Amino acid sequence: MRLRHGYDFSGYAPASLKRRVQQLVRVHGTGGIGGLIQRVLHEDGFVTAAVEGLSVPVSEMFRDPSVFRALRDKVLPVLASYPQVNIWQAGCAHGQEVYSLAILLQEEGLYERTRIYATDFNDAALAVATEGIYPARDARDWSRGYLEAGGRQSFSDYYSARYEFIRLDPGLRRNVTFFNHNLVTDKVFCEAQLILCRNVLIYFDNALQDRTLGLFRDSLVRGGFLCLGSRENIEFSAVAAEFASVDGALRIYRAGSSARPSTP
Ligand SMILES: C[S@@+](CC[C@H](N)C(=O)[O-])C[C@H]1O[C@@H](n2cnc3c(N)ncnc32)[C@H](O)[C@@H]1O
Repeated sequence: MRLRHGYDFSGYAPASLKRRVQQLVRVHGTGGIGGLIQRVLHEDGFVTAAVEGLSVPVSEMFRDPSVFRALRDKVLPVLASYPQVNIWQAGCAHGQEVYSLAILLQEEGLYERTRIYATDFNDAALAVATEGIYPARDARDWSRGYLEAGGRQSFSDYYSARYEFIRLDPGLRRNVTFFNHNLVTDKVFCEAQLILCRNVLIYFDNALQDRTLGLFRDSLVRGGFLCLGSRENIEFSAVAAEFASVDGALRIYRAGSSARPSTP
């Protein structure tokens, strides 16, 4: 994968990676790792299916509603002081967090001056994210999450339902750019006031977590916010001293004085 296609999985936690390789072998009926390698090397387009099988694009809207509540109450009021806001949502999977953020920003009057960069290394997941169409059976849970996150309207105002699917209001992605970015090999591409990267670092070993957190530090303006998943933290990482905790339990941090100065 690395030599032929540039996807380097060597820094991933081995146990879950092994499970996913075994599942790829089963799903594609390659009979073993040798057959899988042959297809990765020689079959056009198979790499997309392989990356899709090796990643876990599971997400939901307003996942951990208390985090979105804290973003609404503690982070967005600070972002409101910037004339232009950049947000990087890394590891966006099928896009549910991106649309959740867009709803928050819209309700807090910040969306018009915000650009959201939503990235993932899984092209198949990015295609789903760009469409914004999800199973209707998820809408009830998401509606509950929306209200717990301090939603000001009814969640159903943000989608139209058709048969077993809901289609999120396409206006929610008017300031969103979805694109492929690999946290292992790609570099800084923006200067952000907020980076949201939840439930991605858990798949990485310590060295790769450090590299990724360094990338986030280099992408944040001074005073910018970083939000991680509930089982992730920066306390033991190489960049720990460069961040202050805003809400330890909710994994929200703020870049300190060594981060780059803000250029509005
Ligand atoms: C479990 S999902 C998290 C989705 C969302 N952030 C959430 O918390 O609901 C993990 C995502 O990380 C992505 N991912 C894994 N390794 C990556 C990498 N090296 N670069 C970019 N994205 C990656 C996967 O493709 C997957 O979509």
